[in-house]
Amino acid sequence: MSADVNQVYGLNPAHSEVVAACRSVASGDALDMGCSSGRNALYLAGQGFRVTAVDANPNAIAALQSILSQEGLDTIDARVYDINEARLDADYDFIVCTVTLMFLQPDRVDAVLADMQHRTRPGGHNLIVCAMDTDDYPCPINFPFTLRSGELSQAYAGWELVKYNEDVGTMHNGARLRFATMLARKPA
Ligand SMILES: C[S@@+](CC[C@H](N)C(=O)[O-])C[C@H]1O[C@@H](n2cnc3c(N)ncnc32)[C@H](O)[C@@H]1O
Repeated sequence: MSADVNQVYGLNPAHSEVVAACRSVASGDALDMGCSSGRNALYLAGQGFRVTAVDANPNAIAALQSILSQEGLDTIDARVYDINEARLDADYDFIVCTVTLMFLQPDRVDAVLADMQHRTRPGGHNLIVCAMDTDDYPCPINFPFTLRSGELSQAYAGWELVKYNEDVGTMHNGARLRFATMLARKPA
């Protein structure tokens, strides 16, 4: 793989929370949910993970598959999958879902989180970054779904919250809102 494959193919660097998580999460089988063109999947593969990368957008998956064939990279399996189905068909050590949850059908999010948890091996990790809608920072963007205060930590009751915050962040367009950022470890 090229030294900085993301740069070579004009992709943004991996999400900063993915980079940070890789400092403490051991490599293994990873799932990138809502992978787009693969900035995080490619980074994870570079860190030694075997990666399944899924997205509902066939064009995004085709773009990632093109990179994989140009690089001769066989440690990423990129496929079209609608996360709303909540029917993962394998188990993983690390499931990554950065800025994707807010695009899902609100009535499917509970099932999606339960499926992610079910498909995480004991001692494995989930990383989620998702927009919030709170009283002090009402979400200024019309995402289909946003988290309420404490909602994500409650959904992961019984897991170790290695990292959890609901800090204010700024979008590319200057909009300010809270994001829930969570790295959680399933009991071994
Ligand atoms: C803002 S992008 C985030 C991409 C990536 N996770 C990252 O951090 O760069 C959201 C992605 O979620 C995908 N997505 C939205 N709804 C989806 C669904 N129901 N199933 C699978 N992917 C979905 C979109 O196609 C898009 O690639």
